[in-house]
Amino acid sequence: MRSAISILILCVALSLQTTQLSMAQTNPATTLRQAADRRGLLIGAAVNPDLLRQPDYARTLRQHFNTVVAENAMKFESVQPREGKFDFTAADKLVAFAEKDNMKVRGHTLVWHSQVPQWVTEQRCKDAEAILRTHISAVVGHFKGKVFAWDVVNEALDDDGALRETFWLRCIGPDYIAKAFRWAHAADPKAKLFYNDYGIESPGRKAERAFELVRDLKAQGVPIDGIGLQMHLDRIPDDIFIAKYMSRFEELGLEVHMTEMDVRLPEPASTRDLLMQAEAYRMAVRRCVQAGNCTAFLTWGVTDRYSWIPDFFPGYGSALLFDKDYRPKPAFRAVLSELNN
Ligand code: XIL
Repeated sequence: MRSAISILILCVALSLQTTQLSMAQTNPATTLRQAADRRGLLIGAAVNPDLLRQPDYARTLRQHFNTVVAENAMKFESVQPREGKFDFTAADKLVAFAEKDNMKVRGHTLVWHSQVPQWVTEQRCKDAEAILRTHISAVVGHFKGKVFAWDVVNEALDDDGALRETFWLRCIGPDYIAKAFRWAHAADPKAKLFYNDYGIESPGRKAERAFELVRDLKAQGVPIDGIGLQMHLDRIPDDIFIAKYMSRFEELGLEVHMTEMDVRLPEPASTRDLLMQAEAYRMAVRRCVQAGNCTAFLTWGVTDRYSWIPDFFPGYGSALLFDKDYRPKPAFRAVLSELNN
């Protein structure tokens, strides 16, 4: 009797799944958000809260994304520009926008070497730990229940995979990483906590060291839930490597988020480059969808009109899914078709 019931349940489940799949084939989603929602995937973009006033920007964001991350508004210098003076105005605006539109908020970032105000780095080393602890407790506490996941530590490894020489490492020691996760967890036990870095989506020493770092944290009982692959690319990624890399985290019981994807192109972008870019995005999304533990895919901006690339990589641009006039690019169509697949 019991096995007959289980078979029945299995049949119903299978036919529901088939209906859903065939629905996607006969009735493909036209927005990234709808397509990602059907798959239960988070799809997001980095946002500048000041731009939410612009109708095209806000419309594109809410139409195509179910997740947002603050491009700068939650960084140390933004939320604690002066000692003990927290300013959450811009970040709160983003959270309010997200709540109104049923979007999730990813937090970025608590511990980093960059965009840290001078008042911090001028302090005596013996005060560093208290400063960091206070900062993390206040910021995570402020967004408790509103930010579902945090990049707790960002870019702690240099390009060779060694621990980056930062104020935090010099003054607190290598343990600053584990401590940061513990403080964040204490401030919001339900938030998912991530280590986030760039250049680890391709094979090399840095990717290995990042894996070891995260593996060791987990083995020590540090509350860590996953790894963020930034994915700032300029070419088609090594997708076999990415698939294997993600599965190594899956074996540890950890999630992967693709956190900051963009694919920069030499300006002016040629048709050929835009098609290459579309393939790069397609592969990343495909790998995320196929992995058992990749739960979020985010791009570092919404439109080529506002992207960090031209400022940081002179001569490059056109890195996102929508062009300067918010028109969907080949990369957009590649991501959409991959999600609809
Ligand atoms: C960048 C922002 O996009 C810029 O506006 C800012 O001037 C510098 O930082 N890796 C990260 C992000 O983790 O925080 C960076 O964002 C891009 C690289």
